Order: sequence, then structure tokens, then C-alpha cells
Amino acid sequence: MKILVLNGPNLNLLGRREPDIYGRLTLADIEESMRGHARKCGVEVDFFQSNDEGALVSRIGEAAGLYDGLIFNPAAYTHTSVALRDALMAVKLPCVEVHLSNPQNREDFRQANLTLGACIGQVSGFRDRSYILAMDGLIHYLKNKS
Ligand code: DQA
Repeated sequence: MKILVLNGPNLNLLGRREPDIYGRLTLADIEESMRGHARKCGVEVDFFQSNDEGALVSRIGEAAGLYDGLIFNPAAYTHTSVALRDALMAVKLPCVEVHLSNPQNREDFRQANLTLGACIGQVSGFRDRSYILAMDGLIHYLKNKS
């Protein structure tokens, strides 16, 4: 089983970006703990972060046939990107959307979500732990899908 973890804009700044909202761990810290969790679960994991919408669209497009599923924090593009939603719909890979914060209890402009409709589920609000919970959810889904 092989999983691709995608992170969108400004998540490369984790650790120093609004730590009261997103926590103090860096993206490298999160990826390291995901790598350890993946090893324990016996799955392979790759990581990709970009601030560029087109680069994320391309990476999703290339994922079909290479990966069994996706874990994706589209960050601000969650609220704006038809292109990312379309990419997820096109590749038809099961995707779990992740957020460190809970966008639903934040500003009005974060209430719009264009990507979630192309995902099997979402984990949000548990800071870095959201990613591990998303991995468990995706593995469970992949093992149990008929
Ligand atoms: C975020 C939530 C988004 O609203 C925001 O634009 C981000 C991070 C999160 O992980 O909580 O960049 O996706």
C-alpha cells in the first residue's frame, strides 16, 4: 500500500506560522512522525509540498497508478480551487482531507470548501495529530473497500 501526502501553500512555514493556531511543529516534524507511523502500519509514504496550485494539480494527476490513496491539506486552496477539486475527481484516488485547525469554527471565508466533495472524508482541528488520524482513516478505508 502506497500513500502520497500533499501539502498546499504556506504549510512550509509551519513552526513559525501563527503557532497559536497551527502549533509549533514544522512540516518536517510532521512528515517524520508520519513516516514512523507509516512504517509501523506497513505502508509506503511519499511527501510533496507546494505553494503553487498548478504544481499540486500536476502531482495529483501523476498519482494515478502510482499510489493507492492521498492525504491532502490543500490549505487556502481548500476554499478557492476548482482545479484541485477537478484533479481529485479525475484521478479517482481515495483522498482524506486534512486540516491542522478546524476551518469550520474560523472566519466566514473559510466556510467554503471546494475540495472536500472530492474526498472520502476529512480530519480537522487536531493540529499535527490530524495527519496521523487521516492516515489511520485512509488505511482502514483501503483495507476494507470491496
Ligand atoms: C489549513 C486551514 C486553511 O483555512 C488555511 O488557509 C491553511 C491551513 C489548516 O491546516 O488548518 O493554510 O488548511
